Amino acid sequence: MSSSAAEWASTRGEKWRVNAAVMEATLSPLDEPLIAALRLAGRTRIADIGCGAGGTSLAVQRRAPSGSVVHAYDISATLIEYARARTLEAGLPVTFELADVATAPLPAVRYERLYSRLGVMFFDDPAAAFARLRSWVVPGGRCTFVVWAPPEENPWLGTVRAAVERVVEVPGQEPDGPGPFRYAEQGALPSLLAQAGFRDIESREWRGALPVGGGLSAAAAANVALDAFSSFAELLAEAGAGKRDQVAEDLTSVFRRHERDGVVQIDAAVHVVSASTSAD
Ligand SMILES: C[S@@+](CC[C@H](N)C(=O)[O-])C[C@H]1O[C@@H](n2cnc3c(N)ncnc32)[C@H](O)[C@@H]1O
Repeated sequence: MSSSAAEWASTRGEKWRVNAAVMEATLSPLDEPLIAALRLAGRTRIADIGCGAGGTSLAVQRRAPSGSVVHAYDISATLIEYARARTLEAGLPVTFELADVATAPLPAVRYERLYSRLGVMFFDDPAAAFARLRSWVVPGGRCTFVVWAPPEENPWLGTVRAAVERVVEVPGQEPDGPGPFRYAEQGALPSLLAQAGFRDIESREWRGALPVGGGLSAAAAANVALDAFSSFAELLAEAGAGKRDQVAEDLTSVFRRHERDGVVQIDAAVHVVSASTSAD
């Protein structure tokens, strides 16, 4: 298991679960363009890759035609357990499976649709992983992957990072290494998918505003962002007493400029990349 996958299977997965409600509330506007791009029609077998806490799996199941099933996969045991528990409560036919999708055995029955919201940027060997995922899908099936556009187009995160950087060094991401902005350059994921044998590849840009923490005022949103986003909380804890409060105050004034009707909403951009599969 690569170090990025191992982190998701342990500390990052734990952190995502603790903050699942605020992360999903922040990211929920991305579900609509993803679901539209999937072009669901008729009873469909659907796979969710890197499903996290399962919010998108449930959203897709609710929107899929009657008789459809969603099977969701993640490398974090904590997240799978959490997603299973909330799904029981919701009473929806979604199943969750613990798997490293880069190496897992092929599913017994292939899918007609496969998607991921922000879960495919962490593979050790992306070419091999996408070629493998292609074989999870029936010929003529459709896949949609939502990935972040460049950091400059994502001030919902950039403003937080800038505030933290004013007091502590924040390590950067290797341009092509595992991490949220790995496929920020618009052609990066489409060319990888082409190499992996996908067809009819199209990349659309979605731009909108994300409600940081889900409908919060500036002070509450600043606290959520520092607790939940990236590894800012860990870096500030290491930086020493008082640093977090200082950054929270600074970030609150930045977020006040992004309040609309008392709620912080900040611009974001993703690539919604879709492709089809053909017979091998
Ligand atoms: C940024 S989170 C997104 C979670 C969820 N899709 C969402 O949008 O709320 C990335 C997810 O991908 C999962 N992941 C990363 N590498 C994986 C792998 N090789 N196999 C399965 N899941 C993986 C992580 O555990 C994590 O839940």
